[in-house]
Amino acid sequence: MSPRDPQDGAVRIQPSILSADFANMQRDVERIASADGVHVDVMDNHFVPNLTFGPQMVEAVQRVSPIPLDVHLMIEDADRWAPGYAELGVFSVTFHAEASTDPVALARRIRHLGARASIALKPGTPVEPYLELLPEFDQVLVMTVEPGFGGQSFMADMMPKLRTLRAAAERHGIDLWLQVDGGIALDTIGIAAEAGADTFVAGSAVYGAADVEAAIAELRAAAAASHAH
Ligand code: DX5
Ligand code: ZN
Repeated sequence: MSPRDPQDGAVRIQPSILSADFANMQRDVERIASADGVHVDVMDNHFVPNLTFGPQMVEAVQRVSPIPLDVHLMIEDADRWAPGYAELGVFSVTFHAEASTDPVALARRIRHLGARASIALKPGTPVEPYLELLPEFDQVLVMTVEPGFGGQSFMADMMPKLRTLRAAAERHGIDLWLQVDGGIALDTIGIAAEAGADTFVAGSAVYGAADVEAAIAELRAAAAASHAH
């Protein structure tokens, strides 16, 4: 673990292993030990047009990871499948609002199973219907690309969602983590931090870097410099 500036404590960096080498997964999670969590993208080829892995792989990553697992489910029928991921003992389970018929019941179930409950919103999904429900969640993930693939361009037009969520969380008086995922890199992370994000997923910006640890430290510093809280 590399030493952290205490002022950087308010932001979290979570590299996405979607951009890791799947044949060297243990090595690649060990390389990001200085990050706050490993972001694990589960895709079912139905909710998104891409396929990654399921609970067996998540369990295997958890066995070798030096840091907590942040599981991002891009799967249909989250009501049915998400609790199984929480049962693995992971730190956080994110399901998509668009894939659940009862997000509050599902979040309660995830929390009951001991994981943090997180709800994700695709770029086209408005935030307003969820504002009164925020105390039911530990985190909201605002997608800054269409989910499915790494390496896409950051959608700056999602920033109003973050501002709305940050204001609503303050109104509720809750410690809601605001996560962004998609196109987060040195030139975009400050924009998201300034809008209220405090938890940052980065795939290609970390694993595409020659020095992975330095990339994490640079992202952390850039986010902390712009973080509004
Ligand atoms: C995309 C995934 C992301 C992806 C981000 O659907 O949810 O977690 O790994 O990759 P980058 O950071 O390269 O945009
Ligand atoms: Zn993701």
